[in-house]
Amino acid sequence: MQAQPPSPHPTIPMPHALITGASQGAGKATALHFAQQGWDITLAARAPERLDAAALQVRALGRQALAVPTDVGSEAQVTALVEQSIETFGSIDALINNAGICLSGPALNTSLADWHRLLDTNLWGAIHTIHALLPQLLRQGKGSIINVGSFGGKMPLPAMTAYCTSKYALTGLTESLRLELAPQGIHVGIVHPGVINSDFLERARFRGQTETEASDRQRQMARTLQSSWVSQPDDIAQAIWKAVAQRQTDVVVGPAAIATELNRLFPQLTQWAIGKSLET
Ligand SMILES: NC(=O)c1ccc[n+]([C@@H]2O[C@H](COP(=O)([O-])OP(=O)(O)OC[C@H]3O[C@@H](n4cnc5c(N)ncnc54)[C@H](OP(=O)(O)O)[C@@H]3O)[C@@H](O)[C@H]2O)c1
Repeated sequence: MQAQPPSPHPTIPMPHALITGASQGAGKATALHFAQQGWDITLAARAPERLDAAALQVRALGRQALAVPTDVGSEAQVTALVEQSIETFGSIDALINNAGICLSGPALNTSLADWHRLLDTNLWGAIHTIHALLPQLLRQGKGSIINVGSFGGKMPLPAMTAYCTSKYALTGLTESLRLELAPQGIHVGIVHPGVINSDFLERARFRGQTETEASDRQRQMARTLQSSWVSQPDDIAQAIWKAVAQRQTDVVVGPAAIATELNRLFPQLTQWAIGKSLET
């Protein structure tokens, strides 16, 4: 007699999180942190090799991992991701919208293609996953959605208009959705990292009036990523874990919390000081 394949749904379901941008940086650290806490994980990102490697690390911690190569900017790919994730795990306890990319440069030198690429990932990526998962979350009547924003979604940063636009939009999406979903038992929160010592520069684009100006900007950001006040991917993972576990709504991670608070109290002075510190 042929053995029955194992049921995709365990007898006692473990909590399960779907994490985008889970192959590297803060997203991968979050996948491993949640796995250490006993959660099963659906991991999404575009490049399959790194994604599979991250899934192996989750499995090494004794948890189930489903790796689905996905571009979050594609509605069709995200719909397929969500269907596969629910089919495999049965339910979803947390959606972590972490996939994000960076663009630095003056608005004048930011092409419409740049704007689209950035917003497709940083904003539409979150809209796509939320849109695809919402019916399931509402059926369950419980669960968390955590969007990973940036301190650039709470205060303006020099030469980061497109990036800040995407992250301010994510802040607005989070706050409005929270209002709408709280009565239905769904928790919606946002975690704003400051600068993270990750591989962000791999995908970042730099623009300027000239090539030299763009390269100077890149060098300046590389220096910032090496400075001692940056957060580590694990700091973001722990903040996301706490946001889910304690149903926190708005968290700024690390020293960026001081900058955003100073900006709230003394916006002109803070923005002048940030501009000075980031001069190339
Ligand atoms: N690094 C910072 O200084 C910083 C500061 C503030 C906020 N943040 C935010 O924190 C989050 C994580 O940043 P990080 O520094 O950990 O980034 P990272 O190291 O560059 O990792 C980014 C992850 O997102 C994935 N990704 C990128 N574009 C994607 C797409 N279109 N579809 C699916 N996955 C995509 C990448 O994999 P693939 O390329 O293979 O798809 C990778 O797994 C982002 O939302 C970022 O905006 C970062």
